[in-house]
Amino acid sequence: MGPATSISDPCADQAGRHEIAAWLRGEYPGGDDALFAAARRALERTVGPEVWMRGLLEYSNYCRCDCHYCGIRRSAEVSRFDLTDEEIVAAARECADAGFGSMTLQAGERRDRRSIVRIERLIRKIKTVTYREGLPEGLGLTLSLGEQREETYRRWYDAGAHRYLLRIETSNPSLFAQLHPTRQTFSDRVTALRTLKRVGYQLGTGVMIGIPGQTIDDLAADVRFFRDIDADMIGMGPYIPSVAAARTFRRAADRSVAERLQLSLRMIAVTRLTIPDLNIAATTALQALAPTGREAGLAAGANVMMPIVTPMSRRQSYQLYDGKPCLDEDSVACRACTPARAARLGRPVVPDAWGDAPHAHRRKGAEYE
Ligand code: 5AD
Repeated sequence: MGPATSISDPCADQAGRHEIAAWLRGEYPGGDDALFAAARRALERTVGPEVWMRGLLEYSNYCRCDCHYCGIRRSAEVSRFDLTDEEIVAAARECADAGFGSMTLQAGERRDRRSIVRIERLIRKIKTVTYREGLPEGLGLTLSLGEQREETYRRWYDAGAHRYLLRIETSNPSLFAQLHPTRQTFSDRVTALRTLKRVGYQLGTGVMIGIPGQTIDDLAADVRFFRDIDADMIGMGPYIPSVAAARTFRRAADRSVAERLQLSLRMIAVTRLTIPDLNIAATTALQALAPTGREAGLAAGANVMMPIVTPMSRRQSYQLYDGKPCLDEDSVACRACTPARAARLGRPVVPDAWGDAPHAHRRKGAEYE
């Protein structure tokens, strides 16, 4: 048995700090290809070879936050938009019709009462209009709407959303502090993640990889953070500078494009080997650095793709980082292109499935034991 097999038992608390860091430096026995192959084996054994699709609707770029790296930060000069309710519901129908069993609603963070009530109403509406023969409970709904009060998380959960994505961005509190204004704190972010779990969501988190000043040990700690917070889903990708964001954060990436890409793939593989039964996304940011970056993510152990269903006319205004791909494509193109990428790797794409991570059900099951 190779080293990968010995650490991929979900019950064993195995890969130590030094092992994770060594693999992230490219020191896995046999090299990166062996690392990725081990991650794929762990995936097939625990979750299966399927790739799950979640239509990603970026419905608004209004944001109260001012994360230094982000192209839609509050102080960025971009034209702001907010899709209408009708547009949002139409996109949901499109996802259901395309056979994507799940949809992610993402937008800048807002906490005003009107927005909160609006989302609650939209969740209920989407759940009712996306019933299909193959989707007896409607689309699986994931939210990615930032830090909210517990009461808000509960409202949205009770309305029918069952997954939530909120990245920790980095598990190093001092690096987090460098990346965010003082009023956005690391401890608030961690509290929000714990609240989401308590409310009952399947929890997604993740980090940016190759942030200026971020070390390999930081990334190794990120993987342990994923395990300790008991995440069910991980979305992570390379840090990519944004001109629109750069007013106060003028530091260029201190690792090359190739390094950030490779490090991102190693993070996917190491996360898969450390916590095998998670869902891990092959994120769009991977494709910003290489035309087949998302395929490389799947080959390194990812099992989720998020085809963008945002209307083409709004995509320019939702550039979190520069060089975001698919800006000149519409949702029809992304709907066809994304599953085709998985299929070309020989990975099955299952229509009409929520595609929950076994990790989420393992936890639920354990609660009733
Ligand atoms: N580079 C890479 N990822 C970014 N995000 C925001 N800005 C950037 C950037 N410049 C990511 C953050 C956020 C997610 C929605 O987008 O990780 O959580």
